[in-house]
Amino acid sequence: MKNIEDQKNLLGKKVLLRLDLNVPLQDGIIKDDTRINKILPTLKFLIQKQAKIIIISHVGRPKGKIVPALSMRPICTNLSEKLNQKINLITDDIRKIENKDLFKNIDGNILVLENIRFYQEEENNDSNFSQHLASFADVYINDAFSCSHRAHASVSSITKFLPSYCGLQFNSEVTALKKVTSEIEKPITCIIGGSKISTKIGIIKNLIPKFDNIIIVGGMANNILSYKNIKIGKSIYEENCNEIVKNIFETSKQYSCSIIYPEDVITSKSLDGKPEPKKLNDISDNDMILDIGEKTIKKIDNLINSSKTILWNGPAGYFENNDFANGSFQIAKSIVKNHKSNSIYSVAGGGDTISVLNKINAIEGFNFISTAGGAFLEYLEGKEIPGISALN
Ligand code: 3PG
Ligand code: MG
Repeated sequence: MKNIEDQKNLLGKKVLLRLDLNVPLQDGIIKDDTRINKILPTLKFLIQKQAKIIIISHVGRPKGKIVPALSMRPICTNLSEKLNQKINLITDDIRKIENKDLFKNIDGNILVLENIRFYQEEENNDSNFSQHLASFADVYINDAFSCSHRAHASVSSITKFLPSYCGLQFNSEVTALKKVTSEIEKPITCIIGGSKISTKIGIIKNLIPKFDNIIIVGGMANNILSYKNIKIGKSIYEENCNEIVKNIFETSKQYSCSIIYPEDVITSKSLDGKPEPKKLNDISDNDMILDIGEKTIKKIDNLINSSKTILWNGPAGYFENNDFANGSFQIAKSIVKNHKSNSIYSVAGGGDTISVLNKINAIEGFNFISTAGGAFLEYLEGKEIPGISALN
């Protein structure tokens, strides 16, 4: 992979810069700006080289439709404040822009294109679309490791049309993950949570041979509970996964990897309702499982205490509401405690996991923090990462 630092002459060059500025937004307010802060060194490097920068990113999953709540505007404003310079947001349909010089009639050297997932062509990895994007620039940089597990146009097919490099953050993520996978010390415990069940459930089976314990919390745990014939009420759940779950348990026996899932939970009738601790057999039809319970927290703490390496991706519950954040906070505290006594090597990954850690100032308790969630897990799995392949 060529690193952007190898590109000597960027003076006046137009750079198409793919970032992952998919930050948590609530009513247009950025709830955690870690992903923005992490790519500032790349932006400052390009500014210092006097390049002209066209930023591409996605926010959320608008699925090819214009969704105003997922606009890049608040992120553009945040970036502009951080860099103390004017940054223009291009809201026009880029497919219809024929003039190849996007900077013509524009004040400043940084542009942000509106959410790239407003265009269906992005997720289709459409070559005509990426060729059109490429026509706006001289050079392409991917500094979005955290979405490089997606074979999308601005991550994958784009590199066919421009000299392509990885950015500084991308490089540091891959370097750190290489180290994690080559120097890992056993027993290894992997904690997987979050709400993106479809992304993660298929990965678990391939992680089993590599780890001693896999703790499943968050949305995916509901699939496990349901497979075990426990009523999960209105909880989030992915259809048609029983075969995958069955496979997870079978494979775990073969490799003597323990699969740990919630033994008690915190439920509520709605996302902002009253939290109710429940035993698994007491969950009613209109309950939603929103966090793990005390018994489960204790069990996870014991496992962390007896591990040498901890890899964590995805919160244990609906941490956005503090009433359901306790499980995630307690996991973080247990890791920090063990890290302080120098007894574990700890890595955390994913936008939401970072938000959890920021909420309780637990970032220092980790040897490495990856901005990537799904990409982090797929890398650990040993799977081909389309964004890395495209740069090679
Ligand atoms: C993330 O938040 O993990 C990345 O931005 C990728 O998002 P996605 O899962 O919607 O592709
Ligand atoms: Mg995310």
